Amino acid sequence: MKILLVEDNREIRNSIVTVLELEGINVLTAENGLAAQRILANETVTLIVTDLKMPGMDGLSLLKWLQHEGPSTPVVMMSAYGEISDAVEAMKLGAEDYLVKPFDIQEFLIRVKRVIEKHELQERVESGWRKSANGIQWIGESLQMRQIKRLVEKIALTSSTALITGPSGVGKEVIARMIHASSPRSSRLFVAINLAGIPEHLVESELFGYEKGAFTGAYARKIGICELANEGVLLLDEIGDMPFHLQGKLLRVLQERKIQRLGGTQSIPIDVRIIAATNRDLEELVQQHTFREDLFYRLNVIRIEIPPLHERAEDIPVLTGYFIKQFNKQFGKTVKGIRPDALELLQSYNFPGNVRELENLIERAMILAESDVLTSKDLNLPELRVNSLPRKGTLDDVQREAIIEALQRWEGNKTQAAKELGIDRKTLLRKLTDYGVKGI
Ligand SMILES: Nc1ncnc2c1ncn2[C@@H]1O[C@H](COP(=O)(O)OP(=O)(O)OP(=O)(O)O)[C@@H](O)[C@H]1O
Ligand SMILES: [Mg+2]
Repeated sequence: MKILLVEDNREIRNSIVTVLELEGINVLTAENGLAAQRILANETVTLIVTDLKMPGMDGLSLLKWLQHEGPSTPVVMMSAYGEISDAVEAMKLGAEDYLVKPFDIQEFLIRVKRVIEKHELQERVESGWRKSANGIQWIGESLQMRQIKRLVEKIALTSSTALITGPSGVGKEVIARMIHASSPRSSRLFVAINLAGIPEHLVESELFGYEKGAFTGAYARKIGICELANEGVLLLDEIGDMPFHLQGKLLRVLQERKIQRLGGTQSIPIDVRIIAATNRDLEELVQQHTFREDLFYRLNVIRIEIPPLHERAEDIPVLTGYFIKQFNKQFGKTVKGIRPDALELLQSYNFPGNVRELENLIERAMILAESDVLTSKDLNLPELRVNSLPRKGTLDDVQREAIIEALQRWEGNKTQAAKELGIDRKTLLRKLTDYGVKGI
C-alpha cells in the first residue's frame, strides 16, 4: 500500500509521514499539485491525501486533473478551518473524504484506512463481475464431479439457497459461478462478497448499504451488495467468518427478503439467490456457538460438498490438460502435454492446496519448461507430501525416507522404485499406505 501526500508545509508533511510509516504504509511526498502529477506519471498509489491551498497548483486543480486525465485514485482532501465551501467543492469533484486542520492524527488514520478499504472492496466486487462474464468451465470426470455437475444443473433452475463446502482451492467459487451461469438469472449480476476479507465494522454497511448521514463519513447514500445483486445471485463467501452479531440480521433478511439501509427507515424488497460458501466446518462452529444454528439450517437447504483433489485423482489428468491449454493461450506457448511419469507423480501427490495448487504448479512448470512436453523436473514438486501421522520409530522413518527418495529418483515410477528397493510393487504400495504417503 502506498500513499501520495501532497502538502506544502514541511512540518505537517513530516509529521503525517512519520505516523503513516509507523503503520507500515509507504508514503511518497509532493509539495504541490505539479509535483504530484510528476510522481503519478511513474507511480501507482493506493490513495492521495492532499492539502487544499498550495502555491503552484492547489488541491482543487489536482482533483480536477485527476477526474479528467489522471488515474482514478481515491483522494482525501485536507484544509484549514473555515474553508467549508471548498470542502463542498472538493466532495463534488469526487474527493472521498475531507479533513479539517488541525485534526486528530488517530481520526486521520481511521478515515484514510476507511477510504482504502472501501476501494479495495469495490475492486473486488468489480473483478468478480468481470470474472463471471468470462466463460467459466467446470472440469472433472470423477464420479463425485459428475454428480456435482448434475446437481448444479438441477438446482440452477430454482432459486433455493445453496451451501457449498469443501477445503481451500477445491472450486467452491467456480461452482457458485456455474450455478449463476446456468440459471435464468445469468443475465443479471453475480456479486461475491468475501466475509473473511472485510473488516468487521464494514460488513454491515457493505451488505445493506447506508443512507446519507447514517454515520460520520456517510456523505452520500450507498447501495449495499444485497441490493446490487437484486434479481441476480449473491455469493456470501467464507460465511463461517460472518460476525456473530450480524448473523441474526442476515437470517431475518433471508426470511423476509427485505433489507433496510443503515440509517434508513424504508424496507426494500430484494429478490436475490443466495449462495454461501465456506471451507470451515459449520456444523462444528454451530456446536461451539460461534455460528447460529437457525442461520445454518436456513443456508443448508441444498448442500454441495466438494471433495479434496487427492480424493478424486481421476480429475488430475483432465484438469492438467485444461490448465495447459489455458496457459498456452495466456503465455503464447505451444506445450503439447505432459510426460506420463510426470502425470503419475502428480496423481500421487496429495495437493493440500487442491485445484488452485495444481493450477499454480502447471503455470510455473509452463514458464520453466524447456521442451514442449512437461517433465517431472518442470513440475518441481515440493517433495511427496506425507500425512502427519505420528512417526512410529526409527526403522519406519528410514524406510519411509528411502521410499520417498527412490520414488523421486524414478520420478514417481513405482515399478522402478520398488525394484531399486528390492521389494515388489504391491509391497511398495502397501508401505505407501502404511506410511501415509497419499494418493498412491
Ligand atoms: N473443476 C474445476 N475446473 C476448472 N477450474 C477449477 C476447478 N476447480 C477449481 N478450479 C480453479 O481453481 C482455482 C480455485 O478455485 P476456487 O477459487 O473456486 O476455490 P475455492 O474453493 O473457492 O477456494 P477458497 O476456499 O480458497 O476460496 C480457481 O482458479 C479455479 O478456476
Ligand atoms: Mg473461494
